[in-house]
Amino acid sequence: MEEKILSTRIQVCTPEELDARYRNLLDQAKEAAASAYAPYSGFHVGTAVLLENGEVFSGSNQENSAYPSGLCAERVALFFANAQRPQLAPEAIAIAASAQGRFLENPITPCGACRQALLESEMRFRKNIKVLLYGSDRVYVIECIKDLLPLCFGKDSLV
Ligand code: THU
Repeated sequence: MEEKILSTRIQVCTPEELDARYRNLLDQAKEAAASAYAPYSGFHVGTAVLLENGEVFSGSNQENSAYPSGLCAERVALFFANAQRPQLAPEAIAIAASAQGRFLENPITPCGACRQALLESEMRFRKNIKVLLYGSDRVYVIECIKDLLPLCFGKDSLV
């Protein structure tokens, strides 16, 4: 039987090791976490999306008493950016989360639905979106969304 092994390259670093624009993007994601509306989970997520023209759109999670009606920070920021600048490709996204007033030590990774939404953007603009995941102890850098969604279903899967 044939075996296939899929692997993901994750660079582990500190913010200081990154380019200024990526450091800045992480800072904007951390700032955005402060605007989360998360009375049910107490989990505050901030996201900043860098577009190819250098503009940044940020967002935070927005919860609802009818739980599924809320939305993750990643999709708030991505859809905000896509709605405001429909012609511009996102080229990086930074994500940070805090709970009980402190940023998590380890990076959080986007949920499956957000990965799928981000993949759509990557395919739509044919441009990789670099993923920067903030943790106060370490930052993860992943080259593209596809790396976070092996065996993905995308528009090329539709016949
Ligand atoms: N959340 C995000 O905003 N992004 C993620 O990547 C994971 C989870 C939100 C959804 C919900 O408001 C809270 O965090 C707890 O799941």
